Amino acid sequence: MSVTVEKERTMRAIVQREFGSSAVLRVEEAAVPEPGEGEVLVRVAAAGVHAVDTDIRRGDGPPSMPKPALPMTPGREVAGTVEAVGPDVDTALLGTRVVAHVGFRSGGYAESAIAPAAALHTVPAGMPFAQAVAAIGTGRTAQLVLESVEFRPDDVVIIPGASGGLGSQLVQLALSEGATVVALYGGEAKRAVVEQLAHGGRRTAGRLHALDATDDTWPEQMAELLDGAQPSVLIDGVGGATGRAAVESLGRGARVVIIGWSSGEIVRLDSTDIVARSLTVAVPLGRALPDLRELETRALAAVAEGRTAPPVDEYRLEDAAAAHDAIEQRRQRGKVVLVPTRT
Ligand SMILES: NC(=O)c1ccc[n+]([C@@H]2O[C@H](COP(=O)([O-])OP(=O)(O)OC[C@H]3O[C@@H](n4cnc5c(N)ncnc54)[C@H](OP(=O)(O)O)[C@@H]3O)[C@@H](O)[C@H]2O)c1
Repeated sequence: MSVTVEKERTMRAIVQREFGSSAVLRVEEAAVPEPGEGEVLVRVAAAGVHAVDTDIRRGDGPPSMPKPALPMTPGREVAGTVEAVGPDVDTALLGTRVVAHVGFRSGGYAESAIAPAAALHTVPAGMPFAQAVAAIGTGRTAQLVLESVEFRPDDVVIIPGASGGLGSQLVQLALSEGATVVALYGGEAKRAVVEQLAHGGRRTAGRLHALDATDDTWPEQMAELLDGAQPSVLIDGVGGATGRAAVESLGRGARVVIIGWSSGEIVRLDSTDIVARSLTVAVPLGRALPDLRELETRALAAVAEGRTAPPVDEYRLEDAAAAHDAIEQRRQRGKVVLVPTRT
């Protein structure tokens, strides 16, 4: 049996008609899409906003992502309740709590969005939709990084960008493995969200030191706090001066995991650094495409088991432009999420 939505139904959606600044993200009244074969319609409770969404919006996405045809509704991560199913999809899904990464098809910044039934994961009762959506994209990346790092309980881990979507989950995962974590953030306004990471996951076992990387003395402050211990792991998604200072603080045999360069400059590291301190360097996100569904399952399990409790920075659907501004102006606190409220 097929269950479809009435054709004339409309919803609010962010519609992007041109590439450009965040001002191109405008809320419009749009037709509710109908799920086709193998698809469901999700009533969106939370839609993930990703730093890459801001690049795509400018028409400046990475080469691995095709430039979208316009007009389009952005948003590749959605969580909510199944409200309609395609002709060949099991009606038992109706009313269930789900989360999905919908990939390049996008459409998440809306009150309702299409998702392939095969992409759905069940969201357990009690797990907030916003945390499920933080797990489905950013969390799966964190799981991939985790594979490369192989945390040990005696590790001392430096994580720049700890206030961001990925950094915050990596801090919690490292803490849950018993590591000592030096979490770096950019300015006083970010301190509270980073300090709370020590209390977010129910299974926290490691020790957290939160330091402001805009204070150039952070390496000395770190050395004092570590009382002679030297960092054994750097997970760097920021690069620039912060990444470089972190490299210089590493102990012999340390592992460096490069995951990005939010500062605009990839961390400077040459063979002299590697040889002088016997560093091992990994770039996990450059490898062949892994089994993403397995990583998504693990990321959701990490939330369910209390190893992560991703902090979320919530915006209303109509404030999508402000959500993008927060990412581009470095004001995000955790994973940025749009939460449509219905009228
Ligand atoms: N999320 C994913 O799935 C994913 C996938 C592949 C790669 N990555 C890479 O991983 C890194 C982190 O991703 P994310 O999703 O956590 O991004 P995000 O939420 O935008 O966080 C980035 C963090 O970088 C820090 N940062 C330091 N200097 C910055 C600067 N000059 N401009 C902007 N941010 C700056 C900011 O923290 P402070 O202001 O507190 O320093 C910010 O919280 C990025 O390099 C991204 O490209 C992420």
